[in-house]
Amino acid sequence: MFENFTVKSIFREYRVSFESYETALVREIKKGDILIIDSNVFSLYPNLRQLINENKVFQVIASEQAKSYDQIGKLITQIIEHGFSKPNRLIAIGGGVVQDITAFASSILFRGVEWLFFPTNLLTQCDSCIGSKTSVNCGEYKNQLGGFYPPSQIYIDFAFWTTITEKEKSSGLGEMLHYFFVEGESNLPKLHKEIVAAYTDDDVLLTLVNRSLGIKRKMIEIDEFDNGPRNIFNYGHSFGHALEGVTNYEIPHGIAVAYGMDLANVISAHEGLISIELRNQVRIILKEVWRNTQLPEVNIKDYFDALSKDKKNVGNDIKVILSKGLGDMFKATLRRDDDIQRLVVKFFENKLYEADL
Ligand SMILES: NC(=O)c1ccc[n+]([C@@H]2O[C@H](COP(=O)([O-])OP(=O)(O)OC[C@H]3O[C@@H](n4cnc5c(N)ncnc54)[C@H](O)[C@@H]3O)[C@@H](O)[C@H]2O)c1
Ligand SMILES: [Zn+2]
Repeated sequence: MFENFTVKSIFREYRVSFESYETALVREIKKGDILIIDSNVFSLYPNLRQLINENKVFQVIASEQAKSYDQIGKLITQIIEHGFSKPNRLIAIGGGVVQDITAFASSILFRGVEWLFFPTNLLTQCDSCIGSKTSVNCGEYKNQLGGFYPPSQIYIDFAFWTTITEKEKSSGLGEMLHYFFVEGESNLPKLHKEIVAAYTDDDVLLTLVNRSLGIKRKMIEIDEFDNGPRNIFNYGHSFGHALEGVTNYEIPHGIAVAYGMDLANVISAHEGLISIELRNQVRIILKEVWRNTQLPEVNIKDYFDALSKDKKNVGNDIKVILSKGLGDMFKATLRRDDDIQRLVVKFFENKLYEADL
């Protein structure tokens, strides 16, 4: 089902290969290359140590703290002190945190060095491994620094699924759903069945990952720098990022995005843009993503502050993506007025995500 493919980027064309990480790593690793590896992955896959020989490894404990500009500065200093030079490559093995750190460091070190990526969880494999975004945190401001800097090669190995948690699976499924809805999903009952099955049936999950990567690839080849059409793929994201922020990143990204899509739909229904029935039908599928995640109490003032802090916003106007229907998302400006504030309060306090409208 999976064929290797290339992604056309302004920087260079880069390749995505479906291959055993062991084979790929042994072939790729050269003297002087440095590895940046998620510490959980490094302990769950002890064979990595043998494959790596004498190459230097920096382990990263995946957290938003590790993604801070200060921490990355320290890491880059250590990389330079180790004797890393321009022809050497950084090799990232891990999830989104390791990806962002390595991409960002590679983009600024010696005005840009080559990097390779082995995504190890569902979120990175189905989505973020392509797209070239490099976002790191500045103080309390999440993802406010960065640019675009793709790896030269991505190796996806589904063998890493043996150790991912159910929560991580949910997060990947939430991320994939936003692609399917934005693309214009035409069969919601079938999608619902597939999402339920994907938790236990790897073949179904593979089909979904394949579809998700296909949609993402098409979009980034049209608008790599997120200046136009790619914007609508922020569906669920502004609302989701704010939720991640107020819950101290306890809610994984893709699960927060699922709640974010439901909130976007509730607002869209309130504005008369979509029917209440459509919102309810989509919610049934989204619920499969957050089914094992309790949402803590959300402080509405903090939530709106987090929403306004999103890098896409100016003043009291909040830029979000709303929906006029499946495949018909659009950029909208929300005024932080009483009406919207009341609706968001109702969403969280009355737990509208648990109920049909
Ligand atoms: N650059 C982009 O395009 C992009 C896109 C989406 C998200 N992100 C960023 O990525 C981060 C979220 O990514 P994430 O959810 O992958 O977070 P993460 O990197 O923290 O990974 C989540 C958890 O999964 C664990 N893990 C990874 N692979 C595993 C495996 N095979 N087995 C067991 N555990 C494994 C990690 O140790 C971690 O505990 C955020 O900082 C977000 O801003 C970046
Ligand atoms: Zn996302």
